[in-house]
Amino acid sequence: MANNDQWQSRIGFVLACIGSAVGLGNIWRFSYMTYENGGGAFLIPYFVALLTAGIPIMLLEFGVGHKFNSTSVGAFAKINKKWEALGWWPQLASFGLMSYYMVILAWALSYVGYAFTGAWGGDPNAFFFGNYLQLSSGFWDLQGFSMPVIISFVLIWIINYVITVQGVSAGIEKACKIFMPLLFALSIIIVIRGVTLPGAWEGINWYLAPNFTKIANAQVWVAAYGQIFFTLSVAFGVMIAYASYLPRKSDIVNNAFITCLANCGYSFFMGFGTFGIIGYMAKTQGVAFQDVITQSIGLAFVAYPKAIDLLPAANTLFGIMFFTALIFAGLSSSVSLIEALASGLIEKFDMPRKKAINTIAAVGFLIGLMYTTKAGLYIFDTVDQYVAKYIIIMVGLYECILIGWIYGSDKIRNYVNPLSDFAIGKWWDVCIKYITPVILGVSFVQLVYGDLVRPYGGYPWSGIIVFGWGSIAAVIIVGIVLASKPWKSDVLSRPVEEVQE
Ligand code: TRP
Repeated sequence: MANNDQWQSRIGFVLACIGSAVGLGNIWRFSYMTYENGGGAFLIPYFVALLTAGIPIMLLEFGVGHKFNSTSVGAFAKINKKWEALGWWPQLASFGLMSYYMVILAWALSYVGYAFTGAWGGDPNAFFFGNYLQLSSGFWDLQGFSMPVIISFVLIWIINYVITVQGVSAGIEKACKIFMPLLFALSIIIVIRGVTLPGAWEGINWYLAPNFTKIANAQVWVAAYGQIFFTLSVAFGVMIAYASYLPRKSDIVNNAFITCLANCGYSFFMGFGTFGIIGYMAKTQGVAFQDVITQSIGLAFVAYPKAIDLLPAANTLFGIMFFTALIFAGLSSSVSLIEALASGLIEKFDMPRKKAINTIAAVGFLIGLMYTTKAGLYIFDTVDQYVAKYIIIMVGLYECILIGWIYGSDKIRNYVNPLSDFAIGKWWDVCIKYITPVILGVSFVQLVYGDLVRPYGGYPWSGIIVFGWGSIAAVIIVGIVLASKPWKSDVLSRPVEEVQE
């Protein structure tokens, strides 16, 4: 038994995958990265990264999930029982990411409310860090909870719980079929508003002005690959689980291309809205452009409120739309983060869905409370750096090496091709076996080096060791423990799908 829930339609599957990929990161991270790394010229490394790593890894994860008809846990265990922990790690990383993703969603929810009244007043920066987060002086200065954050946090968890407890088709698929079209509609309105404001095209010019000298810089390429991995939600066990819920005769190749291109197209499109609005702010307020655009959360919760106040008309409506769009984008990602770990627990321990979701929600909620304290932002930032960046690289690397070299990428390629609208060639094996692992290896060295020479974010080492390295250690240890428990389901004895004619 285990996971016998399936997607009801191809569009439902594709929307759920796009829903997972399109998240909070697409709304500002992409725009900022493009601007920072050469503007329009960055699109070249970005596109190369998409073609040589993003799409190939998506194909690999879809192929593995479908062929083994299993989550990452079952798939790795079926290839070799000794590898089972490698399947738990991405799922536990999803859990780690989820624990703080919910908090950002909670902020967005509060801000929908604040948008009604323009509660941030004349100083959105002071409002966000002072009144709302009530940020303390540093890491170990917890000072209790910020009440407005906690209330939204509870609500967000309830929404996520209600969706995921209903399962794949009745919960996630249905929710994504509602959220995604609404998100696209809202985004179109936001972008049209953005590009029609006075000064908008100056902002868009900043966004896309090509700076070709940056292309020679290796950092820019590492940034492009990092962005592609993060934005596509690969290496988190989500896409493997989602593909395992496909009916046996399902296209793989075309669906992977659609998911990747839709996600990246969406980011590019949203950039016009964001930079249009920033251009307008610079023009009307004489705000220095550099003060507006930052990578941090600040852009959504500080710069946007400022921009909303400055709009010539319909400010309240626009504010509500923007934060609602963030919530739709985020919810379709957060449910996939819950599903990643739930899928493994259900598959291995034959756990009823309700029990799996209850467990994840209870533990996730309790851990998440940490980020709702007044030092929450520091902890969140550290866990993000370590869980999201280190684990994504590690998982991507071993997926490529184990599937590409040891299991054999040709087996996956020969499996997905007959199922699909169009076939992938040997270029795919080259990407999986050579290009992606080399880039990930370089990124890893760079990341470790950067973090060793100076503590991330200038935080105290005690915080970095406990929350940064501690969360990586927790993922690895819990993964090994879960892998060592005996299987309660018969999944491992089921035959692996062979090539279908
Ligand atoms: N892609 C998401 C975003 O752009 C973030 C993300 C990374 C994610 N890995 C994930 C979301 C895994 C869901 C599942 O915001």
